[in-house]
Amino acid sequence: MSVAELLAWGIGRLRTSGSEAARLEAELLLARALGVERAVLLAHPEIPVGADAQRSFAADLERRAAGEPLAYIRGFREFYGLAFATDPRGLIPRPETELLVEAAETEIMRRLTGAPRPVGTSPLRVADVGTGSGAIAVSLAVLLRRRGIGPQVEILASDDSPVALELARENAVGHGVADRIEFVALDLLPTRVGRPFEVIVANLPYVPSGEVDRLPVAVSFEPRRALDGGPDGLAIIARLLDRLPDALAAGGLALLEIGADQGEAICRLAGARLPGWPCRVATDLAGHPRLARLERPS
Ligand SMILES: C[S@@+](CC[C@H](N)C(=O)[O-])C[C@H]1O[C@@H](n2cnc3c(N)ncnc32)[C@H](O)[C@@H]1O
Repeated sequence: MSVAELLAWGIGRLRTSGSEAARLEAELLLARALGVERAVLLAHPEIPVGADAQRSFAADLERRAAGEPLAYIRGFREFYGLAFATDPRGLIPRPETELLVEAAETEIMRRLTGAPRPVGTSPLRVADVGTGSGAIAVSLAVLLRRRGIGPQVEILASDDSPVALELARENAVGHGVADRIEFVALDLLPTRVGRPFEVIVANLPYVPSGEVDRLPVAVSFEPRRALDGGPDGLAIIARLLDRLPDALAAGGLALLEIGADQGEAICRLAGARLPGWPCRVATDLAGHPRLARLERPS
């Protein structure tokens, strides 16, 4: 069979299974089976496909038709312009989380370049709580290295899932920043923080428990504990807020990803648990509340 024939067959198979992006997914899976870029398929629809590649394509199509996320089948997902290894040990990085990385990078740069830091000042301390695949911590480390200021920042990445941390370490190694991030398996943050963090970023689970099972079937392949935020979705984030007075430096900033309907709830929660700390919510590209900014007064 030719590329065009196989693609037509694959698109049909995925459409029948309910895929909303059947063409793109079939193209990506056939490109993977052939070990070529997707553009090659589009440029050469006439080339014949060997039996091994056909079998591998058919097997991947069945996995996708059964609901498995494309990122787990392909083994990676692009996030912030970088390829992250993905497998069921960790949540697949989502595009909306790029907003958090961007805000964290801006804040770190502001702190490092806004006012002169006297010679001998300790590196800026940053924590990524619930690092999962390491998407946030690794992206930040790569960005800071590109700017030539990697050594001026210490990054701690935590997760209470040891297997997610393994995946995060692998991604850090893959991007050459494993020496820039300290990975720790623990609940939220170290109990004895030592020097407090100036910036804390967290994309912790925020889906209400009752809604997790109503998410699209592909999500059921991801670790439930990466999604389930307790009865109102904010149980784990609330516990993090309680830790901030010990963990966040005076004048420090916490950036928390939230659900689209949690903008008011997060600031109410912060008002009750961290009185006097300003809380602001930024929206994502779709205009939904997505990022809470909590500042510890100086
Ligand atoms: C929504 S996922 C985010 C993963 C990654 N930061 C990202 O943005 O793609 C939440 C992560 O928090 C971790 N997690 C859940 N509860 C935690 C806790 N109490 N302490 C540390 N990590 C936790 C989960 O294991 C999961 O990896």
